[in-house]
Amino acid sequence: MMSEKAQIGVTGLAVMGRNLARNFARHGHTVALHNRSYGRTKELVEEFGHEGKFIPSESAADFVASLERPRRVVIMVKAGGPTDAVIDEFAPLLEPGDMLIDAGNAHYLDTRRREAALKEKGLHFVGAGVSGGEEGALHGPSIMPGGPKESYDALGPLLEDIAAKVDGEPCCVHVGPDGAGHFVKMVHNGIEYADMQLIAEAYDLLRQVGGSSPAEIAGIFQGWNEGRLGSYLIEITAEVLKQVDASTGKPFVDIVLDQAEQKGTGRWTVQAALDLGVPVSGIAESVFARALSGGADVRKAAADAALPGPSPENKHAGDLQADVEQALFASKIVAYAQGFQQIQAASKEYGWAIDPGAMAKIWRAGCIIRAKFLDFIKQAYDKQPELATLLVDEYFLDAVSGAQDAWRRVVATAAQQGIPAPGFASALAYYDGLRAKRLPAALIQGQRDFFGAHTYHRIDKPGSFHTLWAAEGRPEVDA
Ligand code: 6PG
Repeated sequence: MMSEKAQIGVTGLAVMGRNLARNFARHGHTVALHNRSYGRTKELVEEFGHEGKFIPSESAADFVASLERPRRVVIMVKAGGPTDAVIDEFAPLLEPGDMLIDAGNAHYLDTRRREAALKEKGLHFVGAGVSGGEEGALHGPSIMPGGPKESYDALGPLLEDIAAKVDGEPCCVHVGPDGAGHFVKMVHNGIEYADMQLIAEAYDLLRQVGGSSPAEIAGIFQGWNEGRLGSYLIEITAEVLKQVDASTGKPFVDIVLDQAEQKGTGRWTVQAALDLGVPVSGIAESVFARALSGGADVRKAAADAALPGPSPENKHAGDLQADVEQALFASKIVAYAQGFQQIQAASKEYGWAIDPGAMAKIWRAGCIIRAKFLDFIKQAYDKQPELATLLVDEYFLDAVSGAQDAWRRVVATAAQQGIPAPGFASALAYYDGLRAKRLPAALIQGQRDFFGAHTYHRIDKPGSFHTLWAAEGRPEVDA
Protein backbone atom coordinates (compact mmCIF):
# COMPACT_ATOMS: atom_id res chain seq x y z
CA MET A 1 0.00 0.00 0.00
CA MET A 2 2.74 2.40 -0.92
CA SER A 3 1.41 5.68 -2.24
CA GLU A 4 4.47 7.87 -2.46
CA LYS A 5 7.14 6.92 -4.94
CA ALA A 6 10.81 7.74 -4.66
CA GLN A 7 12.46 10.27 -6.98
CA ILE A 8 15.75 8.46 -6.88
CA GLY A 9 17.09 5.13 -5.63
CA VAL A 10 20.50 4.06 -4.43
CA THR A 11 21.71 0.47 -4.57
CA GLY A 12 24.96 -0.31 -2.79
CA LEU A 13 24.85 1.19 0.68
CA ALA A 14 28.46 1.03 1.85
CA VAL A 15 29.66 4.38 3.14
CA MET A 16 29.69 6.26 -0.20
CA GLY A 17 26.27 4.99 -1.27
CA ARG A 18 24.82 5.58 2.17
CA ASN A 19 26.09 9.15 2.26
CA LEU A 20 24.81 9.92 -1.23
CA ALA A 21 21.39 8.53 -0.25
CA ARG A 22 21.37 10.68 2.91
CA ASN A 23 22.42 13.72 0.90
CA PHE A 24 19.46 13.25 -1.52
CA ALA A 25 17.09 12.77 1.44
CA ARG A 26 18.42 15.83 3.25
CA HIS A 27 17.59 17.82 0.10
CA GLY A 28 13.95 16.78 0.34
CA HIS A 29 13.97 13.90 -2.14
CA THR A 30 12.34 10.60 -1.32
CA VAL A 31 15.04 7.98 -1.69
CA ALA A 32 14.57 4.29 -2.45
CA LEU A 33 17.17 2.08 -0.79
CA HIS A 34 18.59 -1.29 -1.73
CA ASN A 35 21.62 -3.31 -0.79
CA ARG A 36 22.75 -6.87 -1.50
CA SER A 37 22.32 -7.70 2.18
CA TYR A 38 19.25 -6.11 3.77
CA GLY A 39 21.07 -5.48 7.09
CA ARG A 40 22.80 -2.38 5.72
CA THR A 41 19.54 -0.98 4.39
CA LYS A 42 17.85 -1.47 7.77
CA GLU A 43 20.79 0.11 9.58
CA LEU A 44 20.63 3.21 7.39
CA VAL A 45 16.93 3.71 8.08
CA GLU A 46 17.37 3.07 11.81
CA GLU A 47 20.27 5.48 12.16
CA PHE A 48 19.37 8.20 9.69
CA GLY A 49 15.67 7.71 8.92
CA HIS A 50 14.92 11.01 10.66
CA GLU A 51 16.95 12.92 8.06
CA GLY A 52 14.38 12.53 5.28
CA LYS A 53 12.10 10.13 3.45
CA PHE A 54 13.47 6.69 2.64
CA ILE A 55 11.73 3.71 1.08
CA PRO A 56 13.76 0.60 1.95
CA SER A 57 13.32 -2.58 -0.10
CA GLU A 58 14.68 -6.03 0.39
CA SER A 59 14.34 -7.19 -3.22
CA ALA A 60 15.49 -5.55 -6.44
CA ALA A 61 11.94 -5.86 -7.82
CA ASP A 62 10.38 -4.01 -4.86
CA PHE A 63 13.10 -1.37 -5.07
CA VAL A 64 12.36 -0.78 -8.76
CA ALA A 65 8.62 -0.70 -8.08
CA SER A 66 9.12 1.99 -5.42
CA LEU A 67 10.57 4.47 -7.93
CA GLU A 68 8.70 7.07 -9.97
CA ARG A 69 9.15 7.01 -13.74
CA PRO A 70 11.50 7.54 -15.45
CA ARG A 71 13.36 5.64 -12.78
CA ARG A 72 16.69 6.90 -11.55
CA VAL A 73 18.85 4.20 -10.00
CA VAL A 74 22.24 5.16 -8.60
CA ILE A 75 24.68 2.25 -8.43
CA MET A 76 27.41 2.67 -5.83
CA VAL A 77 29.31 -0.60 -5.77
CA LYS A 78 32.92 -1.63 -6.36
CA ALA A 79 34.02 -0.87 -9.95
CA GLY A 80 34.41 -3.81 -12.33
CA GLY A 81 32.60 -7.15 -11.97
CA PRO A 82 30.26 -6.03 -9.16
CA THR A 83 28.97 -3.16 -11.35
CA ASP A 84 28.21 -5.55 -14.21
CA ALA A 85 26.45 -7.90 -11.78
CA VAL A 86 24.20 -5.09 -10.51
CA ILE A 87 23.44 -3.94 -14.06
CA ASP A 88 22.53 -7.51 -15.03
CA GLU A 89 20.22 -7.73 -12.04
CA PHE A 90 18.44 -4.42 -12.62
CA ALA A 91 18.33 -3.98 -16.41
CA PRO A 92 15.61 -6.64 -16.92
CA LEU A 93 13.43 -4.94 -14.30
CA LEU A 94 13.63 -1.49 -15.89
CA GLU A 95 11.66 0.06 -18.75
CA PRO A 96 12.69 2.27 -21.67
CA GLY A 97 13.69 5.76 -20.56
CA ASP A 98 14.79 4.59 -17.09
CA MET A 99 18.28 5.55 -15.95
CA LEU A 100 21.07 3.56 -14.35
CA ILE A 101 23.70 5.86 -12.88
CA ASP A 102 27.09 4.36 -12.09
CA ALA A 103 28.63 6.66 -9.49
CA GLY A 104 31.72 4.52 -8.88
CA ASN A 105 35.24 4.98 -10.22
CA ALA A 106 34.60 2.93 -13.38
CA HIS A 107 36.99 2.75 -16.31
CA TYR A 108 35.59 4.93 -19.08
CA LEU A 109 35.88 2.14 -21.64
CA ASP A 110 33.67 -0.06 -19.44
CA THR A 111 31.22 2.83 -19.27
CA ARG A 112 31.22 3.15 -23.06
CA ARG A 113 30.55 -0.58 -23.39
CA ARG A 114 27.75 -0.55 -20.80
CA GLU A 115 26.15 2.55 -22.26
CA ALA A 116 26.08 1.04 -25.76
CA ALA A 117 24.62 -2.27 -24.51
CA LEU A 118 21.89 -0.63 -22.43
CA LYS A 119 20.99 1.84 -25.18
CA GLU A 120 19.83 -1.16 -27.24
CA LYS A 121 17.32 -1.89 -24.48
CA GLY A 122 16.17 1.74 -24.43
CA LEU A 123 17.82 2.33 -21.04
CA HIS A 124 19.98 5.35 -20.25
CA PHE A 125 23.28 4.52 -18.66
CA VAL A 126 25.02 7.44 -16.99
CA GLY A 127 28.63 7.04 -15.91
CA ALA A 128 29.00 9.73 -13.27
CA GLY A 129 32.31 10.64 -11.66
CA VAL A 130 31.82 11.59 -8.03
CA SER A 131 34.65 13.17 -6.09
CA GLY A 132 35.03 14.28 -2.51
CA GLY A 133 35.24 11.07 -0.53
CA GLU A 134 32.80 10.19 2.25
CA GLU A 135 32.38 13.73 3.48
CA GLY A 136 31.82 15.06 -0.02
CA ALA A 137 29.17 12.43 -0.72
CA LEU A 138 27.27 13.58 2.35
CA HIS A 139 27.79 17.34 2.28
CA GLY A 140 28.30 18.08 -1.41
CA PRO A 141 30.56 16.31 -3.89
CA SER A 142 31.76 17.45 -7.29
CA ILE A 143 29.78 15.40 -9.82
CA MET A 144 30.84 14.65 -13.39
CA PRO A 145 27.97 12.87 -15.16
CA GLY A 146 28.35 11.54 -18.69
CA GLY A 147 25.76 9.58 -20.68
CA PRO A 148 22.98 10.81 -22.94
CA LYS A 149 22.08 14.49 -22.77
CA GLU A 150 18.33 13.66 -22.46
CA SER A 151 18.99 11.78 -19.25
CA TYR A 152 20.65 14.87 -17.79
CA ASP A 153 17.40 16.80 -18.25
CA ALA A 154 15.65 14.38 -15.87
CA LEU A 155 18.59 13.63 -13.62
CA GLY A 156 20.69 16.81 -13.58
CA PRO A 157 18.46 18.84 -11.23
CA LEU A 158 18.70 16.15 -8.53
CA LEU A 159 22.45 15.83 -8.90
CA GLU A 160 22.84 19.61 -8.88
CA ASP A 161 20.83 19.74 -5.64
CA ILE A 162 23.26 17.50 -3.77
CA ALA A 163 26.47 18.81 -5.38
CA ALA A 164 28.88 21.26 -3.74
CA LYS A 165 28.19 24.91 -4.57
CA VAL A 166 30.41 27.89 -5.34
CA ASP A 167 28.55 31.20 -5.07
CA GLY A 168 25.32 29.22 -5.39
CA GLU A 169 26.46 27.47 -8.57
CA PRO A 170 26.51 23.67 -8.43
CA CYS A 171 29.70 21.69 -9.03
CA CYS A 172 27.91 19.44 -11.48
CA VAL A 173 27.47 19.67 -15.22
CA HIS A 174 26.71 17.28 -18.06
CA VAL A 175 30.26 16.45 -19.17
CA GLY A 176 29.44 14.76 -22.47
CA PRO A 177 28.08 11.49 -23.90
CA ASP A 178 28.86 7.89 -22.88
CA GLY A 179 32.20 7.62 -21.03
CA ALA A 180 33.00 11.36 -20.88
CA GLY A 181 32.09 11.71 -17.20
CA HIS A 182 34.17 8.81 -16.04
CA PHE A 183 37.05 9.90 -18.27
CA VAL A 184 37.08 13.34 -16.67
CA LYS A 185 36.88 11.79 -13.18
CA MET A 186 39.81 9.55 -14.08
CA VAL A 187 41.92 12.55 -15.15
CA HIS A 188 40.82 14.34 -11.97
CA ASN A 189 42.35 11.46 -10.04
CA GLY A 190 45.49 11.52 -12.18
CA ILE A 191 45.91 15.21 -11.38
CA GLU A 192 45.23 14.36 -7.72
CA TYR A 193 48.16 11.92 -7.81
CA ALA A 194 50.43 14.56 -9.36
CA ASP A 195 49.35 17.22 -6.87
CA MET A 196 50.01 14.87 -3.93
CA GLN A 197 53.42 13.87 -5.27
CA LEU A 198 54.47 17.50 -5.76
CA ILE A 199 53.36 18.40 -2.25
CA ALA A 200 55.26 15.42 -0.90
CA GLU A 201 58.42 16.53 -2.75
CA ALA A 202 58.05 20.05 -1.33
CA TYR A 203 57.80 18.59 2.18
CA ASP A 204 60.82 16.35 1.61
CA LEU A 205 63.00 19.24 0.44
CA LEU A 206 61.93 21.51 3.29
CA ARG A 207 62.73 18.75 5.73
CA GLN A 208 65.92 17.32 4.25
CA VAL A 209 67.51 20.46 2.84
CA GLY A 210 65.93 23.04 5.11
CA GLY A 211 66.08 20.94 8.26
CA SER A 212 62.52 21.92 9.28
CA SER A 213 60.44 19.61 11.46
CA PRO A 214 57.07 18.22 10.33
CA ALA A 215 55.31 20.62 12.70
CA GLU A 216 57.26 23.57 11.26
CA ILE A 217 56.48 22.44 7.73
CA ALA A 218 52.80 22.20 8.71
CA GLY A 219 53.04 25.91 9.55
CA ILE A 220 54.63 26.65 6.18
CA PHE A 221 51.84 24.79 4.37
CA GLN A 222 49.23 26.64 6.40
CA GLY A 223 50.81 29.89 5.26
CA TRP A 224 50.86 28.74 1.64
CA ASN A 225 47.23 27.76 1.93
CA GLU A 226 46.40 31.43 2.39
CA GLY A 227 48.05 32.31 -0.92
CA ARG A 228 47.82 31.18 -4.53
CA LEU A 229 48.46 27.54 -3.56
CA GLY A 230 45.28 27.55 -1.43
CA SER A 231 43.66 24.15 -1.85
CA TYR A 232 42.15 21.21 -0.01
CA LEU A 233 45.27 19.07 -0.51
CA ILE A 234 47.59 21.74 0.94
CA GLU A 235 45.19 22.21 3.86
CA ILE A 236 45.02 18.51 4.75
CA THR A 237 48.77 18.14 4.29
CA ALA A 238 49.26 20.65 7.12
CA GLU A 239 46.87 18.60 9.27
CA VAL A 240 48.70 15.34 8.56
CA LEU A 241 52.08 16.95 9.29
CA LYS A 242 50.80 18.35 12.59
CA GLN A 243 49.64 14.95 13.75
CA VAL A 244 51.66 13.30 16.53
CA ASP A 245 51.49 9.54 17.04
CA ALA A 246 49.87 8.85 20.41
CA SER A 247 51.74 5.64 21.14
CA THR A 248 55.27 6.86 20.37
CA GLY A 249 55.04 10.64 20.61
CA LYS A 250 56.74 10.83 17.20
CA PRO A 251 55.44 12.79 14.22
CA PHE A 252 52.74 10.68 12.55
CA VAL A 253 54.54 11.01 9.21
CA ASP A 254 57.57 9.22 10.71
CA ILE A 255 55.69 6.16 11.91
CA VAL A 256 53.82 5.42 8.65
CA LEU A 257 55.37 2.91 6.25
CA ASP A 258 56.69 4.90 3.30
CA GLN A 259 55.03 2.81 0.60
CA ALA A 260 52.23 4.67 -1.24
CA GLU A 261 49.38 2.50 -2.40
CA GLN A 262 46.93 3.02 -5.24
CA LYS A 263 43.66 1.69 -6.48
CA GLY A 264 44.39 2.29 -10.13
CA THR A 265 42.80 5.47 -11.45
CA GLY A 266 46.16 7.25 -11.75
CA ARG A 267 47.55 4.31 -13.68
CA TRP A 268 44.48 4.32 -15.98
CA THR A 269 45.07 8.01 -16.67
CA VAL A 270 48.60 7.32 -17.82
CA GLN A 271 47.56 4.28 -19.87
CA ALA A 272 44.89 6.36 -21.62
CA ALA A 273 47.35 9.20 -22.16
CA LEU A 274 49.81 6.82 -23.82
CA ASP A 275 47.10 5.71 -26.23
CA LEU A 276 46.10 9.30 -26.96
CA GLY A 277 49.75 10.37 -27.36
CA VAL A 278 49.46 13.11 -24.72
CA PRO A 279 52.55 13.60 -22.53
CA VAL A 280 51.12 13.62 -19.00
CA SER A 281 54.61 13.29 -17.54
CA GLY A 282 53.63 14.83 -14.17
CA ILE A 283 50.89 12.27 -13.61
CA ALA A 284 53.10 9.45 -14.89
CA GLU A 285 55.94 10.40 -12.54
CA SER A 286 53.54 10.39 -9.63
CA VAL A 287 52.26 6.90 -10.49
CA PHE A 288 55.84 5.65 -10.93
CA ALA A 289 56.94 7.31 -7.69
CA ARG A 290 54.22 5.37 -5.85
CA ALA A 291 55.36 2.19 -7.58
CA LEU A 292 59.00 2.90 -6.63
CA SER A 293 58.03 3.51 -3.01
CA GLY A 294 56.10 0.25 -2.96
CA GLY A 295 58.95 -1.77 -4.51
CA ALA A 296 60.20 -3.03 -1.14
CA ASP A 297 62.47 -5.73 -2.60
CA VAL A 298 64.22 -3.40 -5.01
CA ARG A 299 64.62 -0.73 -2.34
CA LYS A 300 66.08 -3.29 0.03
CA ALA A 301 68.53 -4.47 -2.64
CA ALA A 302 69.60 -0.85 -3.18
CA ALA A 303 69.96 -0.30 0.57
CA ASP A 304 72.00 -3.49 0.94
CA ALA A 305 74.29 -2.41 -1.89
CA ALA A 306 74.53 1.05 -0.28
CA LEU A 307 74.09 2.87 -3.62
CA PRO A 308 76.29 5.94 -3.15
CA GLY A 309 74.85 9.46 -2.88
CA PRO A 310 76.44 12.91 -3.10
CA SER A 311 78.47 14.55 -0.35
CA PRO A 312 76.01 16.20 2.00
CA GLU A 313 77.52 19.67 2.37
CA ASN A 314 75.76 21.32 -0.60
CA LYS A 315 73.44 24.10 0.43
CA HIS A 316 70.54 25.63 -1.48
CA ALA A 317 71.56 28.76 -3.35
CA GLY A 318 68.53 30.87 -2.45
CA ASP A 319 65.62 31.22 -0.06
CA LEU A 320 64.59 27.57 0.14
CA GLN A 321 61.05 28.10 1.38
CA ALA A 322 60.21 30.76 -1.19
CA ASP A 323 61.87 28.77 -3.97
CA VAL A 324 60.02 25.57 -3.11
CA GLU A 325 56.72 27.46 -3.14
CA GLN A 326 57.55 28.69 -6.66
CA ALA A 327 58.62 25.23 -7.83
CA LEU A 328 55.47 23.71 -6.39
CA PHE A 329 53.20 26.24 -8.07
CA ALA A 330 54.94 26.01 -11.45
CA SER A 331 54.97 22.19 -11.39
CA LYS A 332 51.33 22.13 -10.38
CA ILE A 333 50.47 24.34 -13.34
CA VAL A 334 52.28 21.90 -15.63
CA ALA A 335 50.38 18.91 -14.17
CA TYR A 336 47.02 20.61 -14.66
CA ALA A 337 47.98 21.81 -18.15
CA GLN A 338 48.82 18.22 -19.07
CA GLY A 339 45.62 16.82 -17.57
CA PHE A 340 43.46 19.37 -19.39
CA GLN A 341 45.28 18.64 -22.62
CA GLN A 342 44.44 14.97 -22.14
CA ILE A 343 40.76 15.79 -21.61
CA GLN A 344 40.75 17.87 -24.78
CA ALA A 345 42.47 15.12 -26.76
CA ALA A 346 39.97 12.49 -25.60
CA SER A 347 37.08 14.83 -26.27
CA LYS A 348 38.28 15.14 -29.86
CA GLU A 349 38.96 11.40 -30.22
CA TYR A 350 35.52 10.34 -28.96
CA GLY A 351 33.49 13.35 -30.15
CA TRP A 352 32.50 14.32 -26.60
CA ALA A 353 32.62 18.11 -27.04
CA ILE A 354 33.77 18.61 -23.45
CA ASP A 355 33.98 22.21 -22.30
CA PRO A 356 37.29 22.35 -20.36
CA GLY A 357 36.32 25.60 -18.60
CA ALA A 358 33.20 23.87 -17.24
CA MET A 359 35.40 21.09 -15.83
CA ALA A 360 37.56 23.65 -14.00
CA LYS A 361 34.37 25.22 -12.72
CA ILE A 362 32.93 22.02 -11.22
CA TRP A 363 36.28 21.17 -9.61
CA ARG A 364 36.30 24.41 -7.59
CA ALA A 365 34.52 22.77 -4.64
CA GLY A 366 33.56 19.34 -3.39
CA CYS A 367 36.37 17.39 -5.02
CA ILE A 368 39.80 16.39 -3.78
CA ILE A 369 41.71 18.72 -6.12
CA ARG A 370 39.61 21.79 -5.28
CA ALA A 371 41.89 24.79 -5.36
CA LYS A 372 41.82 28.54 -5.69
CA PHE A 373 43.65 28.55 -8.98
CA LEU A 374 40.90 26.61 -10.77
CA ASP A 375 39.19 29.98 -11.17
CA PHE A 376 42.08 31.06 -13.38
CA ILE A 377 41.85 27.84 -15.40
CA LYS A 378 38.16 28.48 -15.95
CA GLN A 379 38.87 32.05 -17.01
CA ALA A 380 41.61 30.89 -19.39
CA TYR A 381 39.26 28.51 -21.21
CA ASP A 382 36.38 31.00 -21.14
CA LYS A 383 38.64 33.43 -22.97
CA GLN A 384 39.92 30.81 -25.39
CA PRO A 385 38.08 27.46 -25.46
CA GLU A 386 40.58 25.99 -27.93
CA LEU A 387 43.64 26.97 -25.86
CA ALA A 388 46.45 24.58 -26.87
CA THR A 389 47.96 24.57 -23.39
CA LEU A 390 47.25 26.45 -20.18
CA LEU A 391 50.92 27.46 -20.13
CA VAL A 392 50.33 30.07 -22.80
CA ASP A 393 47.46 31.75 -20.99
CA GLU A 394 48.55 35.11 -19.60
CA TYR A 395 48.05 34.27 -15.90
CA PHE A 396 49.90 30.97 -16.08
CA LEU A 397 52.61 32.30 -18.38
CA ASP A 398 53.30 35.06 -15.86
CA ALA A 399 53.28 32.62 -12.95
CA VAL A 400 55.66 30.19 -14.60
CA SER A 401 58.03 32.84 -15.91
CA GLY A 402 58.11 34.40 -12.44
CA ALA A 403 58.83 31.00 -10.92
CA GLN A 404 61.34 29.61 -13.32
CA ASP A 405 64.61 30.74 -11.70
CA ALA A 406 63.52 29.41 -8.31
CA TRP A 407 62.16 26.24 -9.94
CA ARG A 408 65.53 25.58 -11.58
CA ARG A 409 67.37 26.19 -8.29
CA VAL A 410 65.11 23.71 -6.51
CA VAL A 411 65.58 21.01 -9.15
CA ALA A 412 69.34 21.63 -9.08
CA THR A 413 69.44 21.39 -5.29
CA ALA A 414 67.45 18.15 -5.34
CA ALA A 415 69.84 16.66 -7.91
CA GLN A 416 72.96 17.89 -6.09
CA GLN A 417 71.78 16.63 -2.75
CA GLY A 418 70.46 13.34 -4.04
CA ILE A 419 66.85 13.95 -3.04
CA PRO A 420 64.35 12.44 -5.46
CA ALA A 421 62.09 15.12 -6.94
CA PRO A 422 60.75 13.47 -10.09
CA GLY A 423 57.63 15.65 -10.15
CA PHE A 424 59.50 18.97 -10.02
CA ALA A 425 62.21 17.78 -12.41
CA SER A 426 59.93 16.28 -15.02
CA ALA A 427 57.61 19.29 -14.95
CA LEU A 428 60.59 21.55 -15.62
CA ALA A 429 61.83 19.27 -18.41
CA TYR A 430 58.35 19.38 -19.96
CA TYR A 431 58.34 23.16 -19.76
CA ASP A 432 61.77 23.36 -21.37
CA GLY A 433 60.66 20.84 -23.99
CA LEU A 434 57.71 23.02 -24.96
CA ARG A 435 59.94 26.11 -25.02
CA ALA A 436 62.68 24.62 -27.15
CA LYS A 437 63.04 26.10 -30.64
CA ARG A 438 64.69 22.90 -31.85
CA LEU A 439 64.40 19.52 -30.17
CA PRO A 440 66.78 16.59 -30.61
CA ALA A 441 63.82 14.73 -32.10
CA ALA A 442 65.44 15.51 -35.46
CA LEU A 443 68.32 13.23 -34.48
CA ILE A 444 65.88 10.48 -33.50
CA GLN A 445 64.29 10.76 -36.93
CA GLY A 446 67.76 10.34 -38.44
CA GLN A 447 68.43 7.25 -36.34
CA ARG A 448 65.08 5.74 -37.34
CA ASP A 449 65.77 6.39 -40.98
CA PHE A 450 69.27 4.89 -40.65
CA PHE A 451 68.30 1.57 -39.13
CA GLY A 452 64.77 1.11 -40.42
CA ALA A 453 64.28 3.35 -43.49
CA HIS A 454 61.45 4.96 -41.54
CA THR A 455 61.77 8.21 -43.53
CA TYR A 456 61.70 11.83 -42.34
CA HIS A 457 60.29 15.22 -43.26
CA ARG A 458 62.47 18.23 -44.05
CA ILE A 459 62.08 21.74 -42.71
CA ASP A 460 62.60 23.30 -46.14
CA LYS A 461 60.29 21.35 -48.49
CA PRO A 462 57.21 19.12 -48.32
CA GLY A 463 57.24 15.34 -48.74
CA SER A 464 58.84 12.29 -47.12
CA PHE A 465 62.49 11.48 -47.59
CA HIS A 466 64.90 8.65 -47.03
CA THR A 467 68.67 8.73 -47.07
CA LEU A 468 70.41 5.71 -48.64
CA TRP A 469 72.77 5.39 -45.70
CA ALA A 470 74.68 2.38 -47.09
CA ALA A 471 75.13 3.79 -50.59
CA GLU A 472 78.12 5.68 -51.84
CA GLY A 473 77.73 9.40 -50.97
CA ARG A 474 74.53 8.70 -48.99
CA PRO A 475 72.12 10.27 -51.46
CA GLU A 476 68.64 11.35 -50.39
CA VAL A 477 65.61 10.00 -52.22
CA ASP A 478 61.89 10.77 -52.16
CA ALA A 479 60.10 8.22 -50.02
C1 6PG B 1 37.92 11.36 -5.01
C2 6PG B 1 39.09 10.43 -4.82
C3 6PG B 1 38.60 9.02 -4.69
C4 6PG B 1 39.63 8.10 -4.07
C5 6PG B 1 40.81 7.84 -4.93
C6 6PG B 1 41.99 7.33 -4.13
O1 6PG B 1 37.93 12.04 -6.02
O2 6PG B 1 37.05 11.41 -4.14
O3 6PG B 1 39.92 10.51 -5.92
O4 6PG B 1 38.15 8.63 -5.93
O5 6PG B 1 40.00 8.59 -2.84
O6 6PG B 1 40.42 6.89 -5.86
O7 6PG B 1 42.82 6.76 -5.04
P1 6PG B 1 44.06 5.85 -4.70
O8 6PG B 1 43.61 4.84 -3.69
O9 6PG B 1 44.39 5.24 -6.02
O10 6PG B 1 45.10 6.77 -4.15
